[in-house]
Amino acid sequence: MNSVEKKILTISIVFLVLLFGLVLYAAKGSGVDLPGCVTDVKPFEKGELKKLEDGRYQLFLLARMWTYEPANIEIPVNSVVDLYATSKDVVHGINIADKDVNLMAIPGVIGYKQVKFDKPGEYKVICHEFCGVGHQNMTITINVK
Ligand code: CUA
Repeated sequence: MNSVEKKILTISIVFLVLLFGLVLYAAKGSGVDLPGCVTDVKPFEKGELKKLEDGRYQLFLLARMWTYEPANIEIPVNSVVDLYATSKDVVHGINIADKDVNLMAIPGVIGYKQVKFDKPGEYKVICHEFCGVGHQNMTITINVK
């Protein structure tokens, strides 16, 4: 190995360490996390919103052609919601506008994400996975008051 090769190798290793450090910094610093796939929640066939206590909810969101159950969701501001998502038929998507939520709704699989609604408003839930002729109409609203 000559000196040019050593320099290139050194620069490459420094670059890799720097890149890895930046990825860790971005993930920790900006609170980026990945949606989970939970196994301790039984598959559900009915969508519902369950209140655990004031400000704490569980939302079992069932996607199906071409809507979500429950379709009308109202929660108070500053609520923390454990969102469990699955599908009754084909693969759907779940995107909540202005929230860091981007889940797939897959039959037989429960997706999970915790969401805090700290501002009042109407949050659109839309399907972002093409799922058939009614795909473009597959949307509901979460009302936060
Ligand atoms: Cu469901 Cu697109």
